[in-house]
Amino acid sequence: MGDDSFISRDKAVLTILKTSEEVNHLKDVDTILDKILFESRKLSGADAGSIFLVEDDRLIFSYVQNDTLFKKETANAALYQNFGIPISEQSIVGYVAKTRQSLAIDDAYELDATLPFSFNKSFDEKSGYRTTSMLTIPLIAQESRLVGVMQLINAKDAQGKVVPFSQESVTYIPLFCNNAAVAIERGIMNRELILRMMQMAELRDPSETGAHVQRVGAYSAEIYGSWAARRNHPAKDIKRARDNLRLAAMLHDVGKVGISDNILKKPAKLSDEEYDTMKWHTIFGARLFKNQTSELDHMAMEIALCHHEKWKGRGYPSIRDQDVWAGDDIALGGMPRNGEEIPLSARICAVADVFDALASPRSYKEPFPDEKCLAILESDAGTHFDPEVVEIFVEIFDVIKAIRNKWTEGAG
Ligand code: C2E
Ligand code: SIN
Ligand code: SIN
Ligand code: FE
Ligand code: FE
Repeated sequence: MGDDSFISRDKAVLTILKTSEEVNHLKDVDTILDKILFESRKLSGADAGSIFLVEDDRLIFSYVQNDTLFKKETANAALYQNFGIPISEQSIVGYVAKTRQSLAIDDAYELDATLPFSFNKSFDEKSGYRTTSMLTIPLIAQESRLVGVMQLINAKDAQGKVVPFSQESVTYIPLFCNNAAVAIERGIMNRELILRMMQMAELRDPSETGAHVQRVGAYSAEIYGSWAARRNHPAKDIKRARDNLRLAAMLHDVGKVGISDNILKKPAKLSDEEYDTMKWHTIFGARLFKNQTSELDHMAMEIALCHHEKWKGRGYPSIRDQDVWAGDDIALGGMPRNGEEIPLSARICAVADVFDALASPRSYKEPFPDEKCLAILESDAGTHFDPEVVEIFVEIFDVIKAIRNKWTEGAG
């Protein structure tokens, strides 16, 4: 972090006000966590940090930043680690969750033996990182609900030397965190609302739909991050577009709500006529975002409508946006779309969705092994898919696998 890391009261209050305002404009929980952690680290000079969110009686690892270990803004598999810690006094984060009091530790390797918790060295041992100072803070929202725990690691002085967290940080960061907890709750609610909508839409095994939707959202966000980083888009713009894309991509198949069960759940290949009916899910989905009052609505409309279009044409529904609002007598395939006429968001979601369909079991097919899935994407690059999107997908495949690991059927 820069050398403007040390906070005065005025600066702390200003940052709290400004960041809380910005956070209120973000919609997806990951973007909110990213922002809160970044600002807290900047205020305190922390080299690293992570956030755990409460799920039942556990703290689920949910976000991490580390200036020493992770150099780039782009795709990072470490974000999708999948583990939880019980809320108990044996761990530092568990202890803070239980006592609901912030805790500053000057050296994690020199803990007083009378303390109930111990420091878990396994992360340091795996990564070669040396955790020293720590500031661990409970995230408490309205009505004293515990949302999670934030842990800031290794405060650095102006020379880059690791030092204990300052008294100012210990005082002011928890104040900031109380506002942050409210924003996090809203982010979680937004994502859960979308999951519930999609479970209704697909009416399949809810755990299968939920996991598919989470994966397609995360794959799309990561592909977009790399696509935009290649073009040196400013980090702030990337984050905003990513935030919308994450949620909009989760909604890509919401139009399946209008498809009858006997087609949607058919455990066999569809007839040509059934497949033609199925194609309407793109138009049904787009119609749900008719008002387009926000960027999110607009992107959700583009993705719902265009996620089955193909780079060289011959995809569906191939109608113009204005025909979406016409009645059911419009002709599919009347207006071919191809190449960059297909919105980027939909070109990205197409690759994410087809990979996930190939790699997952469906009522009509077994999952394919990774090599076969990648071979299909690569052989269809330039015909079905935007070739650059496929290239990026292959480039970040370690991140894709980490995402799949985090959201497998039945989990998460
Ligand atoms: P979905 O299951 O989410 O599949 C999304 C897309 O992944 C498909 O779009 C297709 O492009 C690709 N995909 C899925 N399985 C395979 C596969 O085995 N091989 C290849 N090469 N690509 C595959 P598509 O075909 O337009 O289908 C849209 C939706 O229609 C599917 O969503 C699914 O809900 C339904 N569907 C398609 N074919 C069948 C079928 O034979 N039986 C049933 N029950 N549903 C089907
Ligand atoms: C079908 O025609 O039944 C499905 C074709 C496909 O999976 O692309
Ligand atoms: C962009 O952010 O560059 C465009 C996003 C889109 O076309 O959906
Ligand atoms: Fe679809
Ligand atoms: Fe899908």
